[in-house]
Amino acid sequence: MPGSVFAISDLHGSHAQNRRIIDDMRPESDDDWLIVAGDVDDTFSKIEKTLSLLRQRYAKVIWTPGNHELWTLRDDPVQLRGAARYQALVQMCRHNDILTPEDEFAIWPDPAGPITIAPLFLLYDYSWLAPGTQTKKASLAYAHETGVVCADEMLLHPDPYPDRESWCRVRLQAAERRLLALSSDAKTVLVGHWPLIRQSTQALRFPEFAQWCGTTRTADWHLRFRARLVVYGHLHIPRTSYHDGVRFEEVSVGYPREWRKRSTPPGPRKVLPL
Ligand SMILES: [Fe+2]
Ligand SMILES: [Fe+2]
Repeated sequence: MPGSVFAISDLHGSHAQNRRIIDDMRPESDDDWLIVAGDVDDTFSKIEKTLSLLRQRYAKVIWTPGNHELWTLRDDPVQLRGAARYQALVQMCRHNDILTPEDEFAIWPDPAGPITIAPLFLLYDYSWLAPGTQTKKASLAYAHETGVVCADEMLLHPDPYPDRESWCRVRLQAAERRLLALSSDAKTVLVGHWPLIRQSTQALRFPEFAQWCGTTRTADWHLRFRARLVVYGHLHIPRTSYHDGVRFEEVSVGYPREWRKRSTPPGPRKVLPL
């Protein structure tokens, strides 16, 4: 297997300068795979346009949704909300031969041994509380006071669940079930839009934003499910870090005003072979 696996997230294609990054993305070989870890764009048809373009270029594309895919914007002709919107995105991906968290996991034939690539859609449950707060209610109130409130509060509808937290609980159960069904020696790459562990959010400028970034319930998943690598985005703080000896890659592009300041230009990161 001569190819590689590349990973990227937070393409935010509604920004013209990000559009150029997407248009310039090319694999290095015909066998390269691409992981797209959410926040492709803000409207349904633009998400499909970008993902199908990337699928034409890469031998395999593995996608998992970010919060932006799940937004229901007023000017989007597709007005589906919550779980129905997610299901429609999954159908769209299947139609374009793109793998989703609802499909059979792809196995990457790494020279070091086969690795199961598991895209996860887990959301967040407000358990990463704002500094100095003890309850979810107080944490949210703190964010409203400082003005650092995620737009998901307005745009990411949890239907048919009563709240995003309940949806997250259902997603966690489903993902856990699938990961537990893997053979007990299967090595994994865990892919999600939101970080799996709270330590990843320590780099945030506004720590109260962490409540929209993940859940305490995945704190040990990289160990429990034998991850060789964890791929995530959402924070718009691309970096490599190690936790308990496991490599974590934040692979986001982010907004032009963010990436313009960086020394390395944004683009897909080679994450495999190990
Ligand atoms: Fe993003
Ligand atoms: Fe995001």
